[in-house]
Amino acid sequence: MQPSQEPSAQPLIDLGKRYWLPVYKPRELVLDHGNGARVWDTEGRDYIDFGAGIAVNALGHQDPDLLAALTAQANKLWHSSNVFYTEPPLHLAEELVKAAGFAERVFLCNSGAEANEAAIKLVRKWATTQGRPPEQRVIVTFRGSFHGRTLATVTATAQPKYQEGYEPLPGGFRYLDFNDVAALEHAFAQGDVAAVMLEPVQGEGGVLPAAPGFLQRIRELCDAHGALLVLDEIQCGMGRTGTLFAHTQDGVAPDIVTLAKALGCGFPIGAMLAGPKVAQTMQFGAHGTTFGGNPMAAAVARVALRKLSSDEVLANVQRQSAVLREALTSIGTELGLFSEVRGRGLMLGAVLAEGYRGKAGDILDFAAAHGLLMLQAGPDVLRFVPPLNIGDQDISDGLTRLRAALHAFIGR
Ligand SMILES: Cc1ncc(COP(=O)(O)O)c(C=O)c1O
Repeated sequence: MQPSQEPSAQPLIDLGKRYWLPVYKPRELVLDHGNGARVWDTEGRDYIDFGAGIAVNALGHQDPDLLAALTAQANKLWHSSNVFYTEPPLHLAEELVKAAGFAERVFLCNSGAEANEAAIKLVRKWATTQGRPPEQRVIVTFRGSFHGRTLATVTATAQPKYQEGYEPLPGGFRYLDFNDVAALEHAFAQGDVAAVMLEPVQGEGGVLPAAPGFLQRIRELCDAHGALLVLDEIQCGMGRTGTLFAHTQDGVAPDIVTLAKALGCGFPIGAMLAGPKVAQTMQFGAHGTTFGGNPMAAAVARVALRKLSSDEVLANVQRQSAVLREALTSIGTELGLFSEVRGRGLMLGAVLAEGYRGKAGDILDFAAAHGLLMLQAGPDVLRFVPPLNIGDQDISDGLTRLRAALHAFIGR
C-alpha cells in the first residue's frame, strides 16, 4: 500500500496541535496503514508494533477475518440502537457467556471506562437490593490501578495524578496497597465493603501481576462478608496473558468482569459480564447506552473472540512471551538498564533501574526513531503488549530495533 499523498507529516501534526484539546502528547509521526505487526507512517517509514494501540490490536493490523466481518456487516446495517434487535450482539452475548463460564448475562457498551462504570453502578444497585444503606456500599480498589477516565472510574482509579482538579469526586471508594492481604482483611473488618475491584495484572500502573493467592484470598473475604469480586480485564483479558481470561490462572470465579480493548481488536466496544448473583439486579430502564451492541462492533468482536480463544493464538502468546521475556532480561543485564522484567503472557513490563527512573518517555522516542512502537506504564516502566499473533520474524526484528534504540539512548 502506498502512503497517503501528504509529503510531510508536519502539516498534519500541526492540525492536532491547533485543534485537539491538548490532553495528549503523541509522538511526532502520523501512522497511515498497517499489516500484521507492522505499521507505516505517512512518510513511508515502517515500524514494528509492540504497543498494539495500547493492547488493543491483538490480531495485528488488517486481519483478514476481522476485515471480512466488518465489511460484511457494514454492507448490511450500521446501527439500530437497543430499541431493536440485530443479530451480531445477540450471538456475541451468548458466545461471551459460554466462553467465560462464570457469567449469565452481558451488557455491551463502547469502551473500557463505560464497562467499568456499568460495573460500579451494578455493585451499587446490588448493594441497594441487599438492603445496605449508602455508607455500606464501599468499593475497595488498589493503588496503582487504572479503571478509566469518567468521574466514577477515575475515582476507582487509585492514582492521585488522574484525579487532581476533578474534585468533588463520587464517594464510597477505599484504596489499599496492591497485594496487601493484611490491609484487605482490615478493610473488610469495617463491615461496609460491598465489592473489591481490581485488575488481575495492573496495566497502566506498571505491569504488575497480582501475587499468587491474592485473588483467592479476596474471593474468600468477599464470600465471608457478602461482597462482590469485580475484575477489570480490559487490558489483561482476551488472551493477553495466555488464557482467554487472566483470572482463570488465579483459580477464582468472579461476580463481574469487564472487557474492552482487544474485544474489538481496534473497533470500539466494551462489555460487562455479570455472574449469577448480579445478573438480574439491573432491570428495564436501570442502565443503557445508544451505541452499545452496535452490530458492526459486535460482528468484529465475535471474530476476535473466536480467534483469540483459539489454541493457536494462546500457544503463540506463551511461546513469544518466553522469547520476549528472555530477550528483555538479557538486554537489561547487558546494559544495566532494567531492575526487573515482569508480567504475564504478552503483557510484559521492564522496570527501569535506579539511574534511569523517569526516563521511559525518552526511551519511547528513541524506539520510534529506530522503527519500534512501544509503550510506557508510568515514568519508570517500559510496557510490551504486541499483537497476540505476532510471528517470529517480527519479534526478532522488534528486538533488534529495541536493542539499537536502547544503545542509542544510553549513549545520548
Ligand atoms: C485496566 C483498564 N481498565 C480500564 C481502562 C479504560 O478503558 P478506555 O480507555 O477504553 O475507557 C483501561 C485503559 O487503558 C485499562 O487499561
